[in-house]
Amino acid sequence: MLAGKKILIGMTGGIAAYKVPELVRLLVQANAKVRVVMTKGALAFVTPLTMQTISMHPVSTDTFDLTTEATIGHIELADWADLFVIAPATANVIAKLTLGIADDLLTTIALACKAKLLIAPAMNVNMWNHVTVQNNIAILVQRNVSIIGPCIGELACQWIGFGRMATPDDIFKRSSQLLLPKHDLKGLHILVTAGPTHEAIDPFRYITNRSSGKMGFALADAAVKRGALVTLISGPVSLQTPLGATRIDIQSCNELQEAVLKAAEHADVIVMAAAVSDYRPKIFSSAKLKKNSLGQTPTIDLKENPDILGGLQSMQWKKKKPFIVGFAAETEHIEEYAKKKYEEKGCDLIVANPINEEHAGFQTDTNRVYLVYKQGNAIQGSWLPLLSKQEVADHILDKISECT
Ligand SMILES: Cc1cc2nc3c(=O)[nH]c(=O)nc-3n(C[C@H](O)[C@H](O)[C@H](O)COP(=O)(O)O)c2cc1C
Repeated sequence: MLAGKKILIGMTGGIAAYKVPELVRLLVQANAKVRVVMTKGALAFVTPLTMQTISMHPVSTDTFDLTTEATIGHIELADWADLFVIAPATANVIAKLTLGIADDLLTTIALACKAKLLIAPAMNVNMWNHVTVQNNIAILVQRNVSIIGPCIGELACQWIGFGRMATPDDIFKRSSQLLLPKHDLKGLHILVTAGPTHEAIDPFRYITNRSSGKMGFALADAAVKRGALVTLISGPVSLQTPLGATRIDIQSCNELQEAVLKAAEHADVIVMAAAVSDYRPKIFSSAKLKKNSLGQTPTIDLKENPDILGGLQSMQWKKKKPFIVGFAAETEHIEEYAKKKYEEKGCDLIVANPINEEHAGFQTDTNRVYLVYKQGNAIQGSWLPLLSKQEVADHILDKISECT
């Protein structure tokens, strides 16, 4: 499956290092070419002989190795890799990656390596929850580093919580996903809405929100890359159209509704990621409103905007009803509100984001979302960890692909 793919495994000094030989075995079994680099800490847990035997290649441990450095070995390894997987990733290496510290072979290679980086953090739950570790993780996510786990469970230190390294099997699957682009959405027409709406007060002023459109654009981009035919209906944003997507620009909720209803007829999947204003001014003034024109502080009467997402429920479909994904921007009771919206709007999937959380929601490059969907007859909810919006997009598309 991974024939010819070159994977560099970086091992650091965590107890979960004992699981990495199994990861290497899975990769070698899938015909990947594997090389291993170990920190001094990793050598305290697993012997290089074990890793050499399983990977069938010498293991690198020393930046100043006279033999390998005769050909600048650390750059050779960095250039060789199609994917660099650091497992386990200690709190220490996460901090070094964040700061660009290169004081051993693994971190020196990490700086020189242009391949995709996947890290599998593993540590004590209090270390993982430490504000420094969480801030470092957020920085790595922003740099588009892929992060798998940690998972919840009983830890070697007897604590229970987040800290267990993802299983070798899951790291293997994520590595394969990163190396082998999927075309699982080929033949599907996906309609994505993105960005805010502008509800005009007069020709120069409007009501809006802080949506940047980044989540919807990431979804459109990921869907094109996975083979879908994508129509992107966007509110006013300053983002480049993903290559291959057809873009329709709108300003207001009414314009968005018109565009959605037209495009929906051909769609197999509708993803409503746009942050639509709930209200618009009751009266649009075609001339600029003058300060004190009424001799008092002006008030703007509001009128409710149409419920585009809810309206899709009662549409008469000429073909099979599309798979409908709704977004919910929430600041509290996320899980409860998301499940309520799922039932009320008749969606197939709800993606709720806590817009008051640092690194999540509007304008950021990262997001932490709660997904609500049906499994059998039961409504299920599950959180994704903090991820780049590109990775969140891929997870949402995985769910869509699974359900369509
Ligand atoms: C028995 C033992 C288990 C450890 N497990 C972990 C761990 O799971 N995660 C972690 O971040 N650090 C762990 N540490 C601490 C790291 O080994 C230590 O921070 C070290 O400096 C990491 O170096 P490295 O990142 O260069 O490998 C452990 C240390 C010991 C002695």
